[in-house]
Amino acid sequence: MVKYDGLAAGKGVYVCSSLEEAEAALSELQTQFTGWFSFLLEEKLTGPEISIIGLTDGREIKLLATSQDHKRLLAGDQGPNTGGMGAYCPVPFANDNVLAAIRRDIIDPTLRGLQNEQFAFHGFLYFGIMLTPSGPKLLEYNVRLGDPEAEVLLPALDSSLLKLIEATLDGTLALQTVRQRPGAFVGVVLASGGYPAPKFPTGFPITGLDQLPAHVRAYHGATRLDAEGRLVTNGGRVLVLTAHGPDLETATARAYEACAKVTFQDAYYRPDIAQRPAPVLSASAVN
Ligand code: GLY
Repeated sequence: MVKYDGLAAGKGVYVCSSLEEAEAALSELQTQFTGWFSFLLEEKLTGPEISIIGLTDGREIKLLATSQDHKRLLAGDQGPNTGGMGAYCPVPFANDNVLAAIRRDIIDPTLRGLQNEQFAFHGFLYFGIMLTPSGPKLLEYNVRLGDPEAEVLLPALDSSLLKLIEATLDGTLALQTVRQRPGAFVGVVLASGGYPAPKFPTGFPITGLDQLPAHVRAYHGATRLDAEGRLVTNGGRVLVLTAHGPDLETATARAYEACAKVTFQDAYYRPDIAQRPAPVLSASAVN
């Protein structure tokens, strides 16, 4: 992997399979960023990605459900990267063995690192993880909930978020239990046509939100009221419609029924959220 070391509007990362491709990537970077620039060379990893998000008071971590984002714009994980086109939880292939390996190799060492460095971090901790053939690897940390993971994790939470946050701040998370609602949650992003290009039209009236059933929640990302008091689009990722169901298939079908009801001019959504084929994980990936 060749990565520009700086802000590149999502265009600074090259996945290379040979030395020649890496050299071509560096030449392209040189054209984009003339003069001296720094870059990173990283091992190319393969495997499904999952998001593990928890609350920590620095000693204890309480994990929310496992979730998976869909970062590319188009079906089949094609097209440009976006801020996330949908998410679901829990992830069926993230079984107890996978979670035990992630705890042992990534989460516990992170907590030990925080303690050893006397870094009193209290808050949400996000682990972006790839399940590679040689075990789970950490791609990134974030010190926040994920988006659009939050829009499926929060409705899935059956414990009081306020109590968990208070315990996170007080250092009493060990006394808390995180309960999840049964079933599955699927969130599909309704985006403006043209997103994620830098410019696309907005200001289109949104209809159908009053027709959503109780098992669907609508999260507003880029909406506003116009001068006439109508709800209109105001950016790229306009809404996330999150459906709950007894299983992933039902929740997915319900999310897409909701997407068919809520509309605005040029609305776009990925048709395949929560429908990736189940990955085959090698035994060494999770042991
Ligand atoms: N869903 C990826 C992120 O929030 O960073």
